[in-house]
Amino acid sequence: MSESLFRCPICRLSLEKRETALICGGGHSFDLAKEGYAHLLPSDKMRAKIPGDSKEMVAARRAFLDSGGYAIFAEALQKIMLTLLPNGGVMLDAGCGEGYYTRAVANAFSQNKKPLKTAAFDISKFAVKSAAKRGGNGIEYAVAGSFDIPVADGCADAVLNIFSPMAQAEFARVLKKGGVLVFAVPSPRHLFGLKQKLYEKPYLNETREAQYDGFILEDRIPARGEITVQNAQIKKLFSMTPYYWKTPQPAAEALYSLDSLTTEIGFDFVVYRRG
Ligand SMILES: C[S@@+](CC[C@H](N)C(=O)[O-])C[C@H]1O[C@@H](n2cnc3c(N)ncnc32)[C@H](O)[C@@H]1O
Ligand SMILES: [Zn+2]
Repeated sequence: MSESLFRCPICRLSLEKRETALICGGGHSFDLAKEGYAHLLPSDKMRAKIPGDSKEMVAARRAFLDSGGYAIFAEALQKIMLTLLPNGGVMLDAGCGEGYYTRAVANAFSQNKKPLKTAAFDISKFAVKSAAKRGGNGIEYAVAGSFDIPVADGCADAVLNIFSPMAQAEFARVLKKGGVLVFAVPSPRHLFGLKQKLYEKPYLNETREAQYDGFILEDRIPARGEITVQNAQIKKLFSMTPYYWKTPQPAAEALYSLDSLTTEIGFDFVVYRRG
């Protein structure tokens, strides 16, 4: 029996990990699915019937990420997190998807023999199920939303937010004073090669330098590369992007018919310090 990083979503008491459930002192019990994750999203908070990414979106992203197309971002993030948390600590991955970056960071800490306790959550059950199936380095997974995170105030040294909704007030609540929020944003030329195939005059992505209450902008760390994606992976990459939802069908079909696609890719990892 040990204590979970997660808290009871109903009464906020701490949760004990038992073999098949998480149990709070108030008598609430949350079964652990066979993959090892808990469902901590109260049913009245499920605005959509099945919230978050669909099974198909999760499967496409998982297949693309497994192909190594975004490995440069995982490697950059490993270095950033090892630098930000030189003694390890507690990390939350908000909107973790299928846990690609969660696992990368947890693996980097374990390889460097630094203690990192990690809790990762996503509002999509499909994403969490897929992430938990792969387990790894004691990461705890739960179905939960970023706007009502079932963890204690000030419990985290770091919050990761890689392309999931920005819940600044909750992120400020769960971080320790002096903790860090690491936020990914696309670079101006991220996926420019893909956009050139879709649009006559593709625009550069805007670079935003948003200020968030309670946070001090500390750093902006670029990761840039170029990838060549083979035909079978093109649709998977495309379906991870916002263009998938707004591109007319003929342009999408033309993209799928390419043998391969070469494109620049780039993220900036923006680091905010909890003041
Ligand atoms: C673009 S994906 C990124 C997933 C992962 N961070 C990655 O980069 O591989 C966005 C994720 O945010 C999740 N999401 C959407 N709304 C959310 C919310 N309110 N709370 C937590 N996760 C949410 C989706 O289900 C999806 O898995
Ligand atoms: Zn409870």
